[in-house]
Amino acid sequence: MTYTTLLTSLENGILTVTVNRPDKLNALNRDVMTDLEKLSKEIETTPDIKAAIITGSGQKGFVAGADISEFIGLSSSEGMDLARKGQAIFFSIENCSKPVIAAVNGFALGGGCELAMACHFRIASENAKFGQPEVNLGLIPGYGGTQRLVQLIGKGRALELLMTGGMIDAPTALQYGLVNYVVPQEELLTKATALLQTIIAKAPLAISRCISSANAVFDNNRNGYEVEIAAFGDCFDTDDMREGTTAFLEKRKPAFTGK
Ligand code: COA
Repeated sequence: MTYTTLLTSLENGILTVTVNRPDKLNALNRDVMTDLEKLSKEIETTPDIKAAIITGSGQKGFVAGADISEFIGLSSSEGMDLARKGQAIFFSIENCSKPVIAAVNGFALGGGCELAMACHFRIASENAKFGQPEVNLGLIPGYGGTQRLVQLIGKGRALELLMTGGMIDAPTALQYGLVNYVVPQEELLTKATALLQTIIAKAPLAISRCISSANAVFDNNRNGYEVEIAAFGDCFDTDDMREGTTAFLEKRKPAFTGK
């Protein structure tokens, strides 16, 4: 797949994706959003891709938000269309059946924080900063930020960030549970890759059912416990479940096939 705003490299099943507009701190313009939409389809449909890391180009920015220059002159209904489209793209990342993690290497603001939150989990470099500064522009987040921030850090902390438009640093993001690890910038991709290597060595269908069951917690149209029951049951129909349990009893390492 070719992209105009993303750099990609695939190694040992892990696709590293770099949002590449460093002169604009990787802000999400229409081209980046179109590329992210294509990306989620590529991850989903390419057997050689087992997992992905999303990061930003340069040492300063992960993604500094939606591209503010594209907001000028939009009507209310055009704003709604933009939010609906952005939400759909971020939903496709969140619901990807393969693990997608954010390696946050700098500013993750507005749409950048929303992109990171749509990923399955986040790792930050020490210089990373997070925030939803939309109120400074007379706006609110539109790509799921009001929802996922509450889910991840709780309503009180989320509303403080949303209403002050302020930023938190990486240690605070760690304390809030917004990120799982904070590491020196030069170790960010190594840490992300190591975590994904551990994950992709497990049974892929079980991994995808972890994702869909955890996502069901926040889906008002579904009962997450019922989703878990169905997903648990489905595992019994897989070669990998038979292999995993047999290997345990035979005291050997399982050889998963993804079937
Ligand atoms: N949309 C469009 N352009 C953006 C951008 C965004 N969200 N964020 C940064 N840029 C651009 C700047 O306009 C600047 O471009 P220029 O060199 O052509 O003038 C370039 O990226 C570098 O940013 P700059 O502001 O000069 O860097 P800084 O270190 O002084 O400040 C930030 C960094 C992140 C604090 C600042 O860029 C900022 O506040 N960005 C907007 C964040 C935001 O409100 N995001 C939510 C949008 S809904």
